[in-house]
Amino acid sequence: MLQAPPSLESLTEKAAAGLLGNLHAKASITAAAPGRVNLIGEHIDYCDGFVLPFAIDRYIVIAGTPNGSSSVRIATALGGGIASFDVSQAVEEGEPKWTNYLRGVIRGFQNLGHKISGFDAYILSSVPGGAGLSSSAALECATATFLEGLLGVEIGTREKALLCQKAEHDFAHVPCGIMDQFASAFGTKDHLVLIDCMTAEPQLVPFTHPDLTVLISNTMVHHELSDGGYALRRKHTEDALKIIGKRSWRDVTMADVENHWEKLGDPVNRRARHVVGEITRTIEAAAALKAADFEKLGPLMAASHQSLRDDFEVSCKELDVLVDVAQSIGRSGGVIGARMTGGGFGGSTVTLCESAKANDIASKLAAEYHAKTGLTAEIFASRPSAGAHRVL
Ligand code: GLA
Repeated sequence: MLQAPPSLESLTEKAAAGLLGNLHAKASITAAAPGRVNLIGEHIDYCDGFVLPFAIDRYIVIAGTPNGSSSVRIATALGGGIASFDVSQAVEEGEPKWTNYLRGVIRGFQNLGHKISGFDAYILSSVPGGAGLSSSAALECATATFLEGLLGVEIGTREKALLCQKAEHDFAHVPCGIMDQFASAFGTKDHLVLIDCMTAEPQLVPFTHPDLTVLISNTMVHHELSDGGYALRRKHTEDALKIIGKRSWRDVTMADVENHWEKLGDPVNRRARHVVGEITRTIEAAAALKAADFEKLGPLMAASHQSLRDDFEVSCKELDVLVDVAQSIGRSGGVIGARMTGGGFGGSTVTLCESAKANDIASKLAAEYHAKTGLTAEIFASRPSAGAHRVL
């Protein structure tokens, strides 16, 4: 049976209790920010493409209060004691590593001219970590929203998302695009967030459809995103654009890629083919969703996965197994479409299916994944949910 996620209310209560138990402080500000799943539009947010994610009903919650000092003290539900760092000067990178997401966001606020004073905080998460569901963007957006509460300011959703993306670049050293932070910041209940990554404009696309379910299957494997694979893919796309001689991927056609095939060389030519194909697929998928023509999505999702696997080479055996199993269940078994989601190299797949058959499909995915890999996938359903916001 698919399990419902813990409610935001219960996470909030637990975070307040954690703050009290670990730091003996009473929460006066609580912020929550969700992870995301991407339906289609992968590895093109840094190529002026379109992406179609939504905020999932899994959150990182930060409960805290000013502590009258110049230090930030943080405890988390994962244990490991209390991490602490000074905020009286411009905050730099430090240990433990996970604090860099907070440090980077605090530095962003300092760069805007805000003076941050010390606070105590407790962090709790229902976003699976290392699963390609943007737990890092959730932590950044939750931190930014918490700081807005601490300072009594609102910096604007777009500015907040961009500040969080910069924190990821500068403090976590992942040269990511804007998708994750925009999805976490702009996420809205019952809506997909269609992002034009050239203009950084999000557009909300209604998605209610109780007869449709989005299944997320976490492979439980993680083959490192920050150790070069992601940055290298990004560099390939930048090299390709230079060779093709266009200002933006938005102006590149498949004919341009074919005409430069030899000059681009392998694998850069295949990277370019992915980018151009995926931009078109995402535009078509968004139009199909707006028209509630879901049958069009299946082939687009399948082509997206194939391109990420063969041309962009960011899939892995475990993701391919889950997608293959979903595709073999097929339309007659209730599956509309399936593909890997997020940065890849492990992480999760997304399967769009009929709600009435979702439990059966999840069971089959779990059983066959285990039989083929010996691993136990974490499978859950998710609906588009609220983005980063203050709970208290
Ligand atoms: C990671 C990055 C995003 C995006 C995806 C791939 O999640 O953080 O910016 O590039 O990979 O679509």
